[in-house]
Amino acid sequence: MGIEWRDSLSIGVEAIDNQHKELLLRFDRLLTACQTGQGIEELKRLQAFLGEYVHSHFSDEEALQRLHRYPDYEAHIAQHAYFIEQVNRLEAETRQEGVSTHHVVETNNMLLKWLLNHISIVDKKLGTFIISPR
Ligand SMILES: [Fe+2]
Repeated sequence: MGIEWRDSLSIGVEAIDNQHKELLLRFDRLLTACQTGQGIEELKRLQAFLGEYVHSHFSDEEALQRLHRYPDYEAHIAQHAYFIEQVNRLEAETRQEGVSTHHVVETNNMLLKWLLNHISIVDKKLGTFIISPR
């Protein structure tokens, strides 16, 4: 069972959709790696990627919200801050303890729950606001 981009995840802003596609692609690599017992190695790669990518992706989204004077800006960035906190916590834990299976499972759960929920509800609401005529 992998995870794939689907059109229903599109928020209507191509640059952001492309960044989401990249995130899902990397996440899918972790899921695929888990099926072949490579989850721990892949989680290390994913963490290195997320550490950089999530910051630049979120700051692109946040800049777009400021540009459009998005009314839900504060609530939206609070969700980003929460995710970054989780990524950092997991990163710190794996640095101290080494990567183990429960970190892989926890990352899978977090990405599955938070990321898909955030894209399909919170980011979509932002996209709808940006593309709707005012
Ligand atoms: Fe977002």
